[in-house]
Amino acid sequence: MPEPQGASLPDRLIVEDWDGLTFRVNRFAYRSEEIFERERAHIWARTWLYLGHETEVAEPNAFRTRVLGGRPLIFCRDSDGTVRAFLNACPHRGTVLCRENEGSTKLFQCFYHAWTFRNNGDVAAIPGKDAYEAAGEGFLDSMRLRSVPRLEIHEGFVFVAFDPDVPPLLEYLGDAADYMTMIREQHAAGMEVLPGTQLYSVRGNWKLAVENAMDGYHFSPTHNTFVGYLRETGFAVTDDDQYAYNLGNGHSLLVLTGHGGRISMLWEPRFGEDEKRRTEAHRAEMDERLGPERARYVADESHILFVFPNLLLFDLEGLSIRQLEPAAAGRTDVRAWQLAPRGEDEDTRALRMKTMVSFVGPGGLATPDDIEAYEAVQRGIEATAGDPRPGMDFSDMSRGMVDEVKGVQGRSIDEGAMRGFWRHWIKAIGAEDALAATGPRPAAFLEGRNVR
Ligand code: FES
Ligand SMILES: [Fe+2]
Repeated sequence: MPEPQGASLPDRLIVEDWDGLTFRVNRFAYRSEEIFERERAHIWARTWLYLGHETEVAEPNAFRTRVLGGRPLIFCRDSDGTVRAFLNACPHRGTVLCRENEGSTKLFQCFYHAWTFRNNGDVAAIPGKDAYEAAGEGFLDSMRLRSVPRLEIHEGFVFVAFDPDVPPLLEYLGDAADYMTMIREQHAAGMEVLPGTQLYSVRGNWKLAVENAMDGYHFSPTHNTFVGYLRETGFAVTDDDQYAYNLGNGHSLLVLTGHGGRISMLWEPRFGEDEKRRTEAHRAEMDERLGPERARYVADESHILFVFPNLLLFDLEGLSIRQLEPAAAGRTDVRAWQLAPRGEDEDTRALRMKTMVSFVGPGGLATPDDIEAYEAVQRGIEATAGDPRPGMDFSDMSRGMVDEVKGVQGRSIDEGAMRGFWRHWIKAIGAEDALAATGPRPAAFLEGRNVR
């Protein structure tokens, strides 16, 4: 993707003041198509992106189509069982090759001139092939399906990169990798994506969705209906002793213990007595398999993990995978899937489904509130666009900055994870000069990263 021509960014996209302990983000960053193009070129074209989970293409010949960074893709398992990702564009003249969302096929046929490809990318047939004979043997080879340059899998999560020179996936994931391992460890049989995709569009910038996920501060006021419901059913909702972590490379984590239980791992009254017995048995099995300390990490804490730039894992009562696809500065397409233990018993599965749709589903008690929040921000920030008074067109994310000075772990109800995200973002788009920092950066401040 070419660098946008003649792009002119404001001098100050982020203003960080270590004397006054304030951190402010220019609202231009959410509104500007120029920034959007720059993100496509500098982030989406140059880093690892979450494509899907390998259990979505569990069997040979299964395929799904996706769009990442505006590029249509085929995500499939070939007839020999290898997971692959191809650009969904016919090598002949560029037509979208596979026009279905999902299915099973050994062959992809282009509707335009009927060129046909095997699911390992080989050309299977070209109608009237003799017209190309003079082009020699190399012709068919040059017309293979175009693979995405890099594909790697960590714990079933499939990532791709359009830049062949990205570092190995595990190096990129860094400290985020182990939280994905903890997900797989939740059940001895591993996890699988359940059938069905939740697909919706938000009239808001993608970075608002990231901020919202790392924003424990909004939980009680925005989701007060849900909080009231938990309290009524006997769960002690609290924001105390919950923390936010910057994991490096733009990845971040909220660790929550007071926002709800976890199906089959951490019981709470609304799950019912039968589930209590099943949870006890499963916890005993986890202690045995993982050791009590690891089992406690895996089972007792809820995690919201953000893997820069497009993956959110809501490891809460159940587990919801969310993929962000910015479509324009003010629009984001979201795909979400539920990840559940393989071979789970029917009653637990039913409770899981009911619980998940009631909170993180698109019609649940949380997600519509959150979407309304992103959209309300996107509408609201029009009010200050172009305001000539200094500082008017900025959003404040200073909450808890004092902890960065003291070197104290940031709380989930502060805005430290967001600051970490924005500090990484400005480097990632190659605009570090637009971060205006004043005052001495405290010695205790850990550069973009803190880990337990
Ligand atoms: S564009 Fe696909 S066969 Fe011609
Ligand atoms: Fe929320």
